Amino acid sequence: MENIIETLNAAGQQELAARLESLSGDARKNLERDILSQDWEELKALYAEKSSASLEDNVSSNLKPMPFKIAVDDLRYDFWKETGEILLGKGQVAAFLVAGGQGSRLGFDGPKGMFDIGLPSHKSLFQLQAERLLNLSARVEHPIPWCIMTSPLNHEATVNFFTEHNFFGYARENIRFFEQGTICALDPEGKAVVDDNGRLALVPDGNGGCFRALSQSGTLAWLVEKGVQYVFLYSVDNALCRICDPAFIGALAAEGRSLSASKVVHKAGAQEKVGIFALQNNKPGVVEYSDLPENYRDMTNPDGSLTFDGGNIAIHLFKIAGLRKLQTSRLPWHTARKTVCGIEKCWKFEQFLFDAFPLLGTMMPFGVLREEEFSPVKNAEGNDSPKTAREMIGRLHREWLRKAHVAIDPKKLYEISPTISYAGEGLKQSVFDREIGRNILEFDEE
Ligand code: UD1
Repeated sequence: MENIIETLNAAGQQELAARLESLSGDARKNLERDILSQDWEELKALYAEKSSASLEDNVSSNLKPMPFKIAVDDLRYDFWKETGEILLGKGQVAAFLVAGGQGSRLGFDGPKGMFDIGLPSHKSLFQLQAERLLNLSARVEHPIPWCIMTSPLNHEATVNFFTEHNFFGYARENIRFFEQGTICALDPEGKAVVDDNGRLALVPDGNGGCFRALSQSGTLAWLVEKGVQYVFLYSVDNALCRICDPAFIGALAAEGRSLSASKVVHKAGAQEKVGIFALQNNKPGVVEYSDLPENYRDMTNPDGSLTFDGGNIAIHLFKIAGLRKLQTSRLPWHTARKTVCGIEKCWKFEQFLFDAFPLLGTMMPFGVLREEEFSPVKNAEGNDSPKTAREMIGRLHREWLRKAHVAIDPKKLYEISPTISYAGEGLKQSVFDREIGRNILEFDEE
């Protein structure tokens, strides 16, 4: 107890120390537990550093675009795909979903992966992901370990949802759920925010907390024991995510040098809210849309195209050696000023997982086509919404059928269950005739 009070006082948190001393029973125990979960010295240093910094401080003046090529145009593409399938078949690849975010923009009250985007099948994002992984596992004849990071705010709801749905057919021993850490919000004067229940206002520490959480939860050890060498890391909200894409894995394996890789798309326009891939002081990284000054965001080449055109779709691949290195590396903290517990302009801190790239030195960019691989569900309406995701899936799956020479109604949209096709393979007229109304569903443009 003495120690906690001393630590808080040394960190400039006298009010919190006094509050704790005034409590007894459960209220005291709960607050004490919250306090012990935090690194107060770090919070003090963070506040001192951030309250005197400006937005431009986040971005170096020496920012250059990172070149990338669309992978399907490369002659080696089929070779990469085969290599990736071999590695998957040897059990060297795992999937890692970061799903600890609060998804507040969508206005859905629950873990985002539970969201039904309104496809004819009404499958949730979690189910679509599970089925893609199961299809791939069956094809390569090896189960794919699936790590799912939640936060204390949505852990129980996530695990309950999976349990109620019998893990969507996934073998329970191949899934591992674990929680990310939290960090206390500070008021404008740097004091810890306490909520109405007398608990600290603890918020998830950002998706960059995934490296710490992976190792502290024992999940990294679990993967190492299984012989995993490549970890495919992805966000919960991309309805078109090709989870554990063999070509992506094979390309990193063939490149040999880098400890990580990232999928990149051409940005839809200057205003699109995606991070951009760039070289800062010649090191690869991502600058988040909220940190990118307008002059960089709007910069164009002589032909009118965007200079910083490489959009981050939050699909990354890490070699185990890279994840090991990140266990002991410190990622920088980003700040946002938000209303917390009714107090305006509080300080919220978070780490971004892509800040791992400069620490790892090199990173292999892998260009992909937006219409095949990126349809994030971020907003309730308008762009990046459930409606745009339904349409993009419908058009892509229609294209798969067209390429397979199946006679279809060109005005309709189609939903093909990932249980019968992962990325368009295995489709032909007889399959269509058998599966229409079952694993292939037809729907209309809205
Ligand atoms: C993210 C990327 C952005 C990219 C965009 C593409 C980051 C920091 N930003 O932005 O560069 O262009 O996706 O769609 O990665 N999460 C956690 N814990 C947290 C916070 C988030 O697990 O504490 C998870 C979310 O559940 C989600 C993912 O991280 O799966 C992305 O987080 P989100 O905050 O939604 O970032 P975006 O704004 O979508």
